[in-house]
Amino acid sequence: MTLSCGSSATLEAVSAAEPQLNKWYQLFVYQNREVTLDMARRAQAAGYSALVLTVDFPAIGLRYHNIKNNYHPSGEDQANYWPYGTDTAIANNATWADITWLKSQVRIPLVIKGILTAEDARLAVDSGADAILVSNHGGRQLDDAPATLEALPEIVAEVGRECEVYLDGGVRSGTDVFKALALGARAVFVGRPVCWGLVHSGSEGVKSVLEILYTELDNIMTITGCSTVASITPSHVRCVDDYTQALHAFNEK
Ligand SMILES: Cc1cc2nc3c(=O)[nH]c(=O)nc-3n(C[C@H](O)[C@H](O)[C@H](O)COP(=O)(O)O)c2cc1C
Repeated sequence: MTLSCGSSATLEAVSAAEPQLNKWYQLFVYQNREVTLDMARRAQAAGYSALVLTVDFPAIGLRYHNIKNNYHPSGEDQANYWPYGTDTAIANNATWADITWLKSQVRIPLVIKGILTAEDARLAVDSGADAILVSNHGGRQLDDAPATLEALPEIVAEVGRECEVYLDGGVRSGTDVFKALALGARAVFVGRPVCWGLVHSGSEGVKSVLEILYTELDNIMTITGCSTVASITPSHVRCVDDYTQALHAFNEK
């Protein structure tokens, strides 16, 4: 589980509640880099086993649905930020050097979240990233960002032999998990489905959502003849390109 820096319980309280759970902690580069460093060190001290640094949020996207619904999150319940007062603005001037710097300050691995191109994946890894999380922030930042599943293959081709590549965004079924694994993801993450389970019936609802994903993944693995996750390969999926190429070849005959 990756805990958001915006969580309403402190990262220390969450860790104390589930000390055995493998937990990662998500944070941003803040305008005040001391805040970034303090949060990273708190997470490390509290037993989080990786940092997930989100790099697709130099500004919040223009969320017209929030304007339409007159939704203004106050941020007052963001417990991890309380020690820092008004110093928690997210940086809009972060560079790859911030990754190198943060990496040099912590012992736990650094996952870079929000990568959508092979070029940025290369820069992230060369700057010290231990893993890449291919993400478009669940489509919440730019409507026009590519689908993560489409961005995944070129990123795996670029850095997949050097580090693990993960994916999130739009994973809604076990078949979506399967497709991402087939195209080279080591693992996938889900955002909103977990929230929906929580709203529906609390922790039982979250458990159900994860169980449904497991059941569906298990089912498609059986149907496609994959007895292990490692045996899920690119040959188990077809891309739109394959079909259009076949059509072009047909038209040229
Ligand atoms: C309500 C909400 C809050 C989020 N807050 C953060 C955040 O603070 N930091 C972050 O990196 N991503 C945040 N995200 C994006 C998720 O980490 C994740 O990339 C996205 O939800 C995955 O897409 P999915 O919801 O389609 O599964 C948030 C998503 C939602 C729905």
